[in-house]
Amino acid sequence: MGIDLASLVAPDASRVQRQLFSDPEIYEAEMERIFGRCWLFLGHESQLPEPGSFFTSYMGEESVLVTRDRKGVIHAFLNSCRHRGTRICRADAGQAWSFTCPYHAWTYACDGRLTGVPGQKTVYFDEIDKSELGLVPVAQLDAYKGLLFATFDPDAVSLPAYLGNMAFYLDLFLDRREGGTEVIGGIHKWTAEANWKAPAENQVGDNYHVAHSHGSNFDDERRLQDPFFPTARQFNPEPGNGIGIFIVPEDAPDWERVPIGQENPILREYYLSTLKEFDLRLGPRRSRLVPIHGTAFPNFSILPIIGTIRIAHPRGPGCSEIWSWCFVDRDAPDEVKREVRLGYLRTFGPSGTFEQDDGENWETITRAARGPQSRKLTFDLSMGLGHEITLDGLPGRMGEWASEINQRGYYRRWVSEMEAAG
Ligand code: FES
Ligand code: FE
Repeated sequence: MGIDLASLVAPDASRVQRQLFSDPEIYEAEMERIFGRCWLFLGHESQLPEPGSFFTSYMGEESVLVTRDRKGVIHAFLNSCRHRGTRICRADAGQAWSFTCPYHAWTYACDGRLTGVPGQKTVYFDEIDKSELGLVPVAQLDAYKGLLFATFDPDAVSLPAYLGNMAFYLDLFLDRREGGTEVIGGIHKWTAEANWKAPAENQVGDNYHVAHSHGSNFDDERRLQDPFFPTARQFNPEPGNGIGIFIVPEDAPDWERVPIGQENPILREYYLSTLKEFDLRLGPRRSRLVPIHGTAFPNFSILPIIGTIRIAHPRGPGCSEIWSWCFVDRDAPDEVKREVRLGYLRTFGPSGTFEQDDGENWETITRAARGPQSRKLTFDLSMGLGHEITLDGLPGRMGEWASEINQRGYYRRWVSEMEAAG
């Protein structure tokens, strides 16, 4: 690669070249060095409820087939026929014990074995070794509290090591209750003319835009409030990962600890009734933390305050395919699950007012990064630089309610991943 990566991101990451959002050479290198090596989110275990369940996902631009075999073991394979490369499974999800290629009908079992080759005797003369031609599995596959991740890199660190201290904060919504979480209502999928990093770095740490970009959702008094989220703080558990959290004061009423839908009586009552379980599971240090938004490098994002997890799959330097799930506590009553989903639908996903505001920003940033003049400029990520602190018992460094600490960490990580594999 002829580009000096370190010159694109200032050492403290307070300046980042806009070229990162538009350069085809950088994009191609990202596919190898980031999407070829990092742990990537595939989906939620609840999408594979029983043996024979499957779904398709992506790791970067690669289509991946994720299955649960007859013994209940989960697999993830490149969704590409070993004969001539056709995509084997075209469905989003379903139930199947085997998959037949649409081109010449080679058939694979749900554990990846090649089980059927038409004309095995007559045209292959029984000389084909089916045991050599099963579906190609990912290098490593693992789950963290229901979230399935995989990597193409056999030498990548384990998933727990990769998630690092981010797991401490993911538990705030993954581990509230004994039953964990599940996803409901299918996955929303749409394309945005935005570089994949635009949503990832928005959700890693941008509280600054909420009052203004999403202003039509708030009344004037609220919108002009500064600070907009007085008790929120930005945490950078390690470079690349970031999360925004409300730290609810000791003397605040319990309803401030309700994580989703504080103004919805059904949700408020449910979450208040489960606070004790949450406190016992996560302990006193975390029991006053309410997670808002976050990203785990490179592109797994969360908006726990709305009940959604999402991913921006890269589709070229100027395009992303965004997938968005609604998650709930598995043990919650149906009425609560319904209210969480309705709240999500009104705010995020294709029908959500917040999502429309965000998408407009991500697309215009990407467009400007292509302009012959504007692409020579840098992004300014200096907010809060030098004002990061640490808090006892909470891993990582912390910035103000609005701070670009997490975006700086994100781009420092981007450089280190791109250079490490170079
Ligand atoms: Fe799949 Fe030929 S490409 S059977
Ligand atoms: Fe937003």
